[in-house]
Amino acid sequence: MNPKLKNWFRSAVLKMKGYTPGEQPKNLSTIKLNTNENPYPPSTAVLKAVRQAADFRLRLYPEPTADTLRKTLSKVYRWPAEGILVGNGSDEILSLLFNAALGKGDLVQYPDITYSLYPVLAQIREARVKEVKLDSDWNLDFKKLSPNARLILLAYPNPPIGNCFGMAEMKAFCRRAKGLVLIDEAYVDFADKDCLSLARSCPNVLILRTMSKSFSLAGARLGYAFGNPAVIEQLMKVKDSYNVNRITQAAALGAMSPAGLKSMKENVKKIRMERNTLAEDLRNLGFTVPDSQANFLLAAWKGKPGAESLYKNLKKRRVLVRYFSHLRLKDSIRITVGRPEENARLLTELKKLL
Ligand SMILES: Cc1ncc(COP(=O)(O)O)c(C=O)c1O
Repeated sequence: MNPKLKNWFRSAVLKMKGYTPGEQPKNLSTIKLNTNENPYPPSTAVLKAVRQAADFRLRLYPEPTADTLRKTLSKVYRWPAEGILVGNGSDEILSLLFNAALGKGDLVQYPDITYSLYPVLAQIREARVKEVKLDSDWNLDFKKLSPNARLILLAYPNPPIGNCFGMAEMKAFCRRAKGLVLIDEAYVDFADKDCLSLARSCPNVLILRTMSKSFSLAGARLGYAFGNPAVIEQLMKVKDSYNVNRITQAAALGAMSPAGLKSMKENVKKIRMERNTLAEDLRNLGFTVPDSQANFLLAAWKGKPGAESLYKNLKKRRVLVRYFSHLRLKDSIRITVGRPEENARLLTELKKLL
């Protein structure tokens, strides 16, 4: 390492590895089942809105707090506009929250198996992390969470498994918690229930959503959070002035239009059905697949070849899935639910490899 870097950066940053995003292959013929994107295109209402926004107005800054979009989100979700924050992807909102809530040494808690960005953000803040081990069925024992932690992160559904923690236990915990609880609902549109009503009665709870998954807008980068207006006000202070660009604000307004919402719901319905079919097909091949409420499946394979080799060989055959080297996940591959023909190709290649 260049010795001068020590003069330029904090040691916490020099020591950390950084987040590893899933691969984004250039080759469009790759069957891409690795980063939980939606296999269907965005609504035509979104594409039209983007085309209309791409004109001379690009010389102007966007609305700083995306008020038109917040008002629309407020109507769709029946949540006060002052309690909504819009971000450049939900990752940005997570980053804002860590920056605003955590100082060096403050306690943050999340399950040992969850979205792998949380530990990276905690490292950047030099926060004190106490991971809570999920049980063998990937469930969370809420008694293991400290109500005194300054920040608690719970993904609902929780990746890379896709299960949802118990609503009643979660609600009871949120009422007890002294710190902030962020419920990350990136995949909630694919699930049976959501936690918005829980958040309505708990001012310390924030609900995080994204348009990357159900709305097919991962490339546009639009995340949004619902919370108590006093909490959102603090987060507003630490965001960039113009954190969401004009084109993305227009795309998101298109997504929230009646046509945009209808298209999202139709795609979600197809993906939920295909998810259940794919889970059964994988089980028939000998994989252990926990029920998922998201648009992906965690498929465990105890036999030979190992899961890592399956991942590598699928990649050679132009089918990308995700492999995590985490001790509890090393026997598994995570598969995003694709279109029926993509899932069929995955199954064909797997049959050849097993
Ligand atoms: C649980 C969870 N939260 C947040 C995100 C980030 O989403 P976005 O694209 O909105 O930054 C992801 C992305 O995969 C995720 O899995």
